[in-house]
Amino acid sequence: MLLNVVDLTFRAADQSATARFGGILADALKPGDVVSLNGPLGAGKTRLVQVVAAALGCRRQMVNSPTFVLIQEYDGRLPLYHVDAYRLKDSDEFLEIGGEELLESDGVCLIEWADRIADVLPRDLLRIEITPTGETEREFKITAAGPRSRTIVEALKAEHH
Ligand SMILES: Nc1ncnc2c1ncn2[C@@H]1O[C@H](COP(=O)(O)OP(=O)(O)OP(=O)(O)O)[C@@H](O)[C@H]1O
Ligand SMILES: [Mg+2]
Repeated sequence: MLLNVVDLTFRAADQSATARFGGILADALKPGDVVSLNGPLGAGKTRLVQVVAAALGCRRQMVNSPTFVLIQEYDGRLPLYHVDAYRLKDSDEFLEIGGEELLESDGVCLIEWADRIADVLPRDLLRIEITPTGETEREFKITAAGPRSRTIVEALKAEHH
């Protein structure tokens, strides 16, 4: 079995290229997909979530609950859930604040620092590793872990030329 073999690499020269990538990713995502976003502080994980949300026509739902800093919910063509696992103590805290419901919902989940809660995430997620390669240059390495995430990679490949 081949694990962690990068399936596709995008290089963005600047923020507008990241926004174009976000648009392509938004078009490739389907209800129930889970995306793991990895990379150092300031890599652009949050930025990527924002451009995907914009491409989905999302508006931020202002949820008046104590969990809103941990899980942000956007409503657009698809519901989008943005989780920042850096702020979570551990996987149990993710489950306590309703993580399982998010993963089983018809929305898409984009999770920063997902490796911190990997034990409660589906195996078949799309992994995106972001590496800053310059002031405004970013490399997005994309890896599929099963049939569902492979479908996303195929859709990305079809749009990427
Ligand atoms: N091509 C690019 N794509 C994305 N962000 C870029 C790009 N060029 C510069 N940036 C800048 O890089 C920063 C990325 O910050 P962001 O908050 O998205 O990082 P992060 O990976 O979420 O960090 P953290 O781990 O702290 O949450 C922003 O200030 C953004 O303006
Ligand atoms: Mg962030």
